Amino acid sequence: MSEKDFYVDVIDNLPAIAGNVNESMKEQFAQTIYEFLQLQHLYDSAIEVVKTYLNILDSEFSVKFQRNPIHNIESRLKSPQSIIGKLQKKGLPLTTESARKNLLDMAGIRVTCCYISDIYAIVEMLGRRDDFTIIKKKDYIKKPKASGYRSYHLIVNVPVYLSTTKQFAPVEIQIRTIAMDFWASLEHQLKYKPSAAITPEISAELKECADRIAETDMQMQRIYMEIQGLE
Ligand code: GTP
Ligand code: MG
Repeated sequence: MSEKDFYVDVIDNLPAIAGNVNESMKEQFAQTIYEFLQLQHLYDSAIEVVKTYLNILDSEFSVKFQRNPIHNIESRLKSPQSIIGKLQKKGLPLTTESARKNLLDMAGIRVTCCYISDIYAIVEMLGRRDDFTIIKKKDYIKKPKASGYRSYHLIVNVPVYLSTTKQFAPVEIQIRTIAMDFWASLEHQLKYKPSAAITPEISAELKECADRIAETDMQMQRIYMEIQGLE
């Protein structure tokens, strides 16, 4: 049984769908499911490749310098609903090909670091891998967003070695300090609540919090450098 036939069979076993579609629609549907599962597998594997590398860097630092620059690593694959929603919002075709071409944040990794200097060290180390291609770089630490948001964003094209082929998938990596992450998480929760009524005054207050947090981050960086005798 071919891969696609397997999914036709799956559809045949879903009475609510099977009874309402003709053979050709069923085949098309099965093909889409198969392509989408392959895409998810590829992007999930690309996340694993990057996470493994980040963990290796972190443990190397711990052996060499007895400290961990990475506080935490989180990852997520964009859900099928969000992929469809984003394609619809952008007026793009609802196909796996279109998602692959137009959505560069289907695979996402968020790295939280202890100090601002750790963020730049990680960016540099990611850039040193000659099998990773940096497609996009945005330094929202040097140039914060109007909201006050700070973070370093990278989109890296990552090779994944499959059983018979090597394929590439883009991974969005957001790198920020624990303090920046604290602000971004709460601000996101506050802003994206369906009932949220964010007035300009509230936005200004949130930005003030972000700026104050940034000052604290810089102060912590100075204290760290002073203790290490790095200045
Ligand atoms: P998207 O279409 O949303 O992916 O925008 P983009 O491709 O221009 O990327 P951008 O670098 O602007 O930001 C993408 C991601 O950064 C968002 O999905 C959020 O996770 C995060 N982000 C950006 N701006 C803010 C902000 O003001 N507040 C918070 N909490 N997160 C933000
Ligand atoms: Mg995004």
